[in-house]
Amino acid sequence: MKIAIGADHGGYKLKEIITAYLKRKKFEFKDFGTYSEESVDYPDYAYPVAEAVARGEYDRGILICGSGVGVCITANKVKGIRAVLVHDTYTAKQSREHGDANVLCLAGRRLSKAQATKIVAVWLKTEFSGDERHLRRIRKIER
Ligand code: RB5
Repeated sequence: MKIAIGADHGGYKLKEIITAYLKRKKFEFKDFGTYSEESVDYPDYAYPVAEAVARGEYDRGILICGSGVGVCITANKVKGIRAVLVHDTYTAKQSREHGDANVLCLAGRRLSKAQATKIVAVWLKTEFSGDERHLRRIRKIER
């Protein structure tokens, strides 16, 4: 599975933790930045990640800002992206099983290292159920 990951300054520290986890677990990924805690604008990182996923260059995206809100709003502007702001493993699992979410958004200033790593682990391993009712709903979103 190929993963695109990006963050603004509010998500930078958590991105470092998540990329270390991805490395440890031998996931293939590209880090789209930012690379420090210097203030930047989250759309400059959220759009490239979301667009790369939408083009099919990556299977999933992970975006992090302070609250997770800004990157999630941005990513959902890109056609074909189903970005979800997740604070717990229940939502992580359901967003994949029911919503076939392809971009995970996290709050760098709200989640502990352990919480965030658990969410990422669950979200990456959970497959879309493929159930007809969920497919129907996703098609309605697309239309
Ligand atoms: C940056 O201070 C902050 O606004 C940003 O990281 C994000 O939380 C926006 O939704």
